[in-house]
Amino acid sequence: MGFLEEIKLRRTFGIISHPDAGKTTLTEKLLLFGGAIQEAGAVKSNKIKKTATSDFMEIERQRGISVATSVLAFVYQNKKINILDTPGHKDFAEDTFRTLTAVDSVIVVIDVAKGVEEQTEKLVEVCRMRNIPMIVFINKLDREGKDAFDLLDEVEQKLGLKVTPLSLPIGMGYNFKGIYNIWERNIQLFDGEQKQRIEKKVYFDSIDDPQLKATIGNESVITLKEELELIDGIYPQFERGAYLKGELQPVLFGSALNNFGIQELLNCFIEIAPEPLPKASEQRIIEPHEENFSGFIFKIHANMDPNHRNRLAFIKIVSGTFERNIPYLHVRLNKKMKFSSPNTFFAERKEIVNISYPGDIVGLHDTGNFKIGDTLTSGEQLNFKGIPSFSPEHFRYINNNDPMKSKQLAKGINQLMDEGVAQLFILNLNGRKVIGTVGALQFEVIQYRLLHEYGAKCTYENFNVYKACWIEGDEKSYDFKEFKRIKQKYLGQDKSGQLVFLADSAFSLQIVQDKYKSINFHFTSEF
Ligand code: G4P
Repeated sequence: MGFLEEIKLRRTFGIISHPDAGKTTLTEKLLLFGGAIQEAGAVKSNKIKKTATSDFMEIERQRGISVATSVLAFVYQNKKINILDTPGHKDFAEDTFRTLTAVDSVIVVIDVAKGVEEQTEKLVEVCRMRNIPMIVFINKLDREGKDAFDLLDEVEQKLGLKVTPLSLPIGMGYNFKGIYNIWERNIQLFDGEQKQRIEKKVYFDSIDDPQLKATIGNESVITLKEELELIDGIYPQFERGAYLKGELQPVLFGSALNNFGIQELLNCFIEIAPEPLPKASEQRIIEPHEENFSGFIFKIHANMDPNHRNRLAFIKIVSGTFERNIPYLHVRLNKKMKFSSPNTFFAERKEIVNISYPGDIVGLHDTGNFKIGDTLTSGEQLNFKGIPSFSPEHFRYINNNDPMKSKQLAKGINQLMDEGVAQLFILNLNGRKVIGTVGALQFEVIQYRLLHEYGAKCTYENFNVYKACWIEGDEKSYDFKEFKRIKQKYLGQDKSGQLVFLADSAFSLQIVQDKYKSINFHFTSEF
């Protein structure tokens, strides 16, 4: 098969949701339908259970499992599908944001009873900012939940999306009868008290088919007709171009646990989801079909083997082909590197791969050369954009607790930061190191890993920070000089040397924003 055909076959996407909405169950069902696994329960959840939030050992154990589910690949209708795993736990939200830089589309899972939840809002906002095409899947239709139209409203309002339903449930919970598939123009009915299984699948070409009335009853047919008229009146027709631009989001209903609407979701996905998309670099836009190879590291997984400091760096291929044992340019280090055993992923298996194409995710064994966001190319000086850091939520000074091990501590901190476990800020005034994390949990993880992987002991000290802002201003201006002088205690540098203001309160941030109009205060590291 030719290079261009290979690209056209690839679909790389992520599933995002608030914890417990059904992401793991849906992933598993997609793999089942794709024939990649034979039974439900085969994919171990990498989610960090609520009960384990203070148990970081458990997190370490689960992190070990999650490498296997980082990329789940399968073939369906001749298409090569890569599902990129996104941690649902909010303390690992930054991991998820970074993974979203490597997807070409997403499926958003929403629990029919709970509706739009907090974590979904945050993740969808990131996707919206990047115009990532999204399909919304309303899950758990076997349970009593919110009215379908109320939910569609909620999705539009809370998530800021423009939706168009491609399917509609007939009844709900105990009265759930089936799904009208607007996309495929048929109706599937589910029989049986428990609605645990599809007991009957009936296809109708038209809503006026007398068989339909005989099966679901006149009342349901009338309601359905009214609802379909309503949909026609309120919602725009599905248009793939608008979906691909991130301007229109199709919605499907179903139940992952019971297989309602899953095959339909997959069929719809296969038909509309984008193939690998172009990606912006600082220099230019890179098209997948360009001959020269380029790709970027979006995830680093450490602790593969506790005896070796062995890491796997995940690279998304953006253009050209990536081949085993061919030297490529590591742009940041300006160094040629070749890889003798790049890994590809198939369901839960890892295999050595000789050649990979745009859209593919490859795992590279790494001994500390990579940072999140690094670019590899055939030789061109490129830097891919779009892996920003957001302000952490928690900040603490990190102190060395064993003077004999200061080198190990520094090395450990640097490597953990390269992996993206947390952010490091170095204060301008006294050179003290401040660690910023999204969740309080990461402090324990860092302490534990520094000790066990680097033999370094650290302690923390509270540092009261409300938010980190990245500062942009004219070095020579009076405003900038004065701001730097007055706030010197709160200024530092991030890992790439950018100036950061660690504001101690919302109030003090507001004051400087009002006072120094010529200075820009950014809430992400990329602007
Ligand atoms: P997550 O990855 O988004 O966190 O969610 P996960 O798939 O683990 O699902 C969370 C819970 O919701 C699980 O139950 C799962 O069985 C259930 N679930 C998923 N899809 C459906 C559905 O369509 N209908 C119903 N009724 N439940 C669904 P659990 O009891 O928390 O875990 P488990 O013991 O069943 O694994």
